[in-house]
Amino acid sequence: MTTLVTGGAGYVGSHCVVALHAAGRDVVILDDFSNAKRSVVDALRSLTGCQLDVVEGDASDRITIARLFGTYDIDSIIHFAAYKSVPESVAEPLRYYRNNVTSTLSLAEAALERGVSRFVLSSSAVVYGTVAELPITEEIRLLPESPYGATKHMCERILVDASAVSDMQSVLLRYFNPVGGHSSGRLGESPLGEPQNLVPVVMQVANGMRPRLEIFGDDYDTPDGSAIRDYVHVMDLAEGHVAALDADLGRHRSRAFNLGTGVGTSVHEVVRSASEVTQRNIAFDVVARRPGDLAESWADCSRAAAELRWRARRDLKQMLADHWRFLRSHPSGLP
Ligand SMILES: NC(=O)c1ccc[n+]([C@@H]2O[C@H](COP(=O)([O-])OP(=O)(O)OC[C@H]3O[C@@H](n4cnc5c(N)ncnc54)[C@H](O)[C@@H]3O)[C@@H](O)[C@H]2O)c1
Repeated sequence: MTTLVTGGAGYVGSHCVVALHAAGRDVVILDDFSNAKRSVVDALRSLTGCQLDVVEGDASDRITIARLFGTYDIDSIIHFAAYKSVPESVAEPLRYYRNNVTSTLSLAEAALERGVSRFVLSSSAVVYGTVAELPITEEIRLLPESPYGATKHMCERILVDASAVSDMQSVLLRYFNPVGGHSSGRLGESPLGEPQNLVPVVMQVANGMRPRLEIFGDDYDTPDGSAIRDYVHVMDLAEGHVAALDADLGRHRSRAFNLGTGVGTSVHEVVRSASEVTQRNIAFDVVARRPGDLAESWADCSRAAAELRWRARRDLKQMLADHWRFLRSHPSGLP
């Protein structure tokens, strides 16, 4: 039996392919390479030592999906393929709804027709919106504040409703802030555009690729004034997907899980740790807050621990060290 991994050439998807291979799973990747380099596939083949099957195509396209089901004995789907930038989704909402929602709908329809038993969705903590009570549990109301967040909420809903009328179980994985790379230094975050997240930018400053870091606000109501987030190692996240394929969901047709560490880390703490790990000075300026940024966000991961038997094992130092190792050998990402 084969797991269809959409977006398997992307950042989280490629690390998940390594974890699936380590767990002895057969995979086929479907990716349109809209945000991934083809050289990621070479890195994956060399890391896993196997000739991975990769289909280039759009995960919304029902003909491509039908062909995949005709060729492979697919019993599970992990759906990473999506656009993922909050500001971009505000500027181009319809492009986000079309890609993220249509791909989930096309895959869910095919999954029901073909009797797929498990569908794992890459969701996000953005579905929660602004949360007053921390840590964030899966039970609070979902009030996404951006078109991107709304697409993830819709994708979750499509799968919950599909699972209610079929034998397919859906696992909705709400990631917090994935960082780091494979410990070999041969796979990491290799985006096509400029990175926007904190850790990649901090590391570029450490590596002399940017002069300074901009910290967006340090007047939040937090111990050091900077914003607090829950960073999780991308390989821990990857292993969470393997757990999600195997877990016994009991009576649940669909189930949401937070994947984070449960630990909140401030921007200043990230900068200090990155400086220690890289042995470089990280120059920064504090600038105005960005509209829409939350002061604090971290996860309650007890449901994933109890039901998926999954817990993040790698700490912030390891996330930063693994990110740094990849950046040092691939300053412009993979070729
Ligand atoms: N990285 C994060 O910070 C983060 C946080 C929470 C949730 N997520 C979610 O995790 C998933 C993976 O994120 P990522 O960081 O690896 O992003 P990524 O952009 O690196 O990977 C997405 C992959 O999907 C492909 N893709 C996009 N649309 C496609 C389509 N229609 N058909 C086929 N392939 C398509 C891209 O080429 C890319 O390889 C996304 O669904 C994202 O929303 C990411």
